[in-house]
Amino acid sequence: MTTIKDVAKLADVSVATVSRVLNNNGYVNEDTKKKVVEAMEELKYKPNSVARSLFKKESNTVGLIVPDIMNPFFPELARVVEDIMNDHGYTIILCNSDENPEKEAHYLDVLKRKYVDGVLIVTNTLERRHIADWELPLVGLDRPLGDIAPSVYSDNFQGACEAVTYLTELGCRHIAHIRGPHQITNAQQRFAGYKQMMEEVGAYREELVADGDYHWEAAEKAATSLLKEHPYVDGIFAGNDVMAFGVMKAAAKAGRSIPEDLQVIGFDGILLSEMMSPGLTTMTQPMYNMGKKASELLFELIRGSDSTSDPEPFRAKLLERNSTRNKS
Ligand code: RIB
Repeated sequence: MTTIKDVAKLADVSVATVSRVLNNNGYVNEDTKKKVVEAMEELKYKPNSVARSLFKKESNTVGLIVPDIMNPFFPELARVVEDIMNDHGYTIILCNSDENPEKEAHYLDVLKRKYVDGVLIVTNTLERRHIADWELPLVGLDRPLGDIAPSVYSDNFQGACEAVTYLTELGCRHIAHIRGPHQITNAQQRFAGYKQMMEEVGAYREELVADGDYHWEAAEKAATSLLKEHPYVDGIFAGNDVMAFGVMKAAAKAGRSIPEDLQVIGFDGILLSEMMSPGLTTMTQPMYNMGKKASELLFELIRGSDSTSDPEPFRAKLLERNSTRNKS
């Protein structure tokens, strides 16, 4: 394999001169630069990216840590981030943390040792002690990071309020909620929005709230029990689309027809929600704008900005399909 020394020998310059041309730093006169470039082309030399990283202490890569790409929300978000990073000449290293703080800390250490230029992280468990000696740019995505780092996310409370208002306006009078994990901020905010809207119309009943875990299996079990114990339920707001799929499965097994006698709305707007039958009405999160904003914020930090505040949360938007009896 051709090395930087071979290029220097052919161009009759020092290795340091070739390195300056490679990294575009320090003065090299045009004639010398031309000789070095011609030597690289003749030898088909490709700079060793690991060596460049070691030398420059940067690698044009960023880390992206998400809980679990088995949940279809995260691959869609990761794809947006990767496309935007590629547009800026960066590649990403994708890590699954399983919402486990030890795994998050491990991945942050691995990414630092790979000289990534920054990290985007979806986390609800990262604490300052996990990043005690962390110096690299860090931006949160999908969930707030408090005073640890700026973060980009949706207005989950607003989206939940809008989902419940929508079901109420469609005539639902007994609306249940399958909530996400108690420890996850956006699940708490979606539950809070549901609770407030139900209390405002004097219809909040604790027994109509069932625990889910953001996966469809637990949501199907929760919805099966809920529909059996409370057959009068005529609307269900699921804390994310994947749990709404579980609700729809439970409703079918219980002989309920959607949307005729049970209306269902989800949260996220993942592509799969379109493929359901009937298609799932949902509160869409603006994944492209979230990924774009988080990536731009990270680039600003990489370029030396000291921004610490969260941008304005993005509004979740209603996407009507046939799991509800639409107004329009
Ligand atoms: O579906 C996965 C959920 O976890 C989404 O609602 C997203 O907000 C993430 O936090």
